[in-house]
Amino acid sequence: MRAIRFDHTGGPEVLTLGEVPVPEPKAGEILVRNQAIGINFIDTYHRTGLYPVKLPSGIGMEGAGLVEAVGEGVTRFVPGDLAAYASGPIGAYAEFHVGAAERAVKLPAGVSAQVGAAVLLKGMTAEFLIRRCYPVQAGQTVLIHAAAGGVGQILVQWAKILGATVIATVGSDDKAARAKALGADHVILYRDQAVAAEVRKLTGGAGVPVVYDSVGAATFEGSLGALARRGMLVSYGNASGPAPAIEPGRLSRMGSLYLTRPTLFDYVATTAELDESAGALFGLIAAGKIEVEIGQTFPLDQARAAHEALESRATVGASLLIP
Ligand SMILES: NC(=O)c1ccc[n+]([C@@H]2O[C@H](COP(=O)([O-])OP(=O)(O)OC[C@H]3O[C@@H](n4cnc5c(N)ncnc54)[C@H](OP(=O)(O)O)[C@@H]3O)[C@@H](O)[C@H]2O)c1
Repeated sequence: MRAIRFDHTGGPEVLTLGEVPVPEPKAGEILVRNQAIGINFIDTYHRTGLYPVKLPSGIGMEGAGLVEAVGEGVTRFVPGDLAAYASGPIGAYAEFHVGAAERAVKLPAGVSAQVGAAVLLKGMTAEFLIRRCYPVQAGQTVLIHAAAGGVGQILVQWAKILGATVIATVGSDDKAARAKALGADHVILYRDQAVAAEVRKLTGGAGVPVVYDSVGAATFEGSLGALARRGMLVSYGNASGPAPAIEPGRLSRMGSLYLTRPTLFDYVATTAELDESAGALFGLIAAGKIEVEIGQTFPLDQARAAHEALESRATVGASLLIP
């Protein structure tokens, strides 16, 4: 099968297309013939070495397609089911993917492989951030960074469903229009405007009880400065580089703040949690309450161009590779 591989860390140019054997499902595993592959920022961290992986390696965490074969003991799927997965083993950028049946979900009727691959990882991330990591309550005002991106778009819509007022940040006027269309009440252009000062203005000086920050290095200080007393900074990504170290006493001096650095894989650690998270997400999609934007699609052999687009902030919504 055709698969994207890399044998040393670096820029998008290290990604190369090669031929590797189709993997065989062992006991408890399923083989999925990918119809669509989700591109996620975490793939760039694996490629650069920010999150180390054993080399040489495949790349990619997310995909969807028909179950081609099941290993011994699998009861969760039968061949022909439409399945999606959003976890390891790394190597989704390929024609086939093998992984544990218990880490995959069946796509409900009406959800295509393309939508499944675009939304499972990003949407379950939004789910755990907004319902479990810091559960947003109706009437609260929340700050969501990179609101026109893959995870950001889902977060904005979910926050509105929960009855929050949303302050969104984006990097361009086009993305501002997109965030507004999805329900954001206020939009800050964080490349030009000072985030903490703008948030104080919009909240009568109080600040917000929670900031969802996927940008990391570039936004960290502004996020802390935007928080209300006892507010929580949910730092969940590194799009601009990792957030800096912080001395705990600063959290005290800034108003008894909380800081957490969560990852999806600890919030869908069991199959029950995975099914609950995916079920909540697909329920809202089926009800027409969450819209999934597939902003860009690339053929499998264009993985390099896809990474270049994602890292240069040129994408909106989710991006897919099509094998
Ligand atoms: N912790 C977890 O479990 C978890 C799970 C999934 C995703 N994430 C994180 O969530 C974030 C979003 O992931 P995604 O796949 O949906 O990507 P994305 O949001 O579609 O793309 C990243 C966006 O970040 C913004 N950005 C700001 N500064 C940037 C910079 N220097 N370089 C590149 N982008 C920059 C850009 O939007 P603007 O142009 O509007 O600035 C860009 O479009 C990533 O940080 C990812 O690591 C974390």
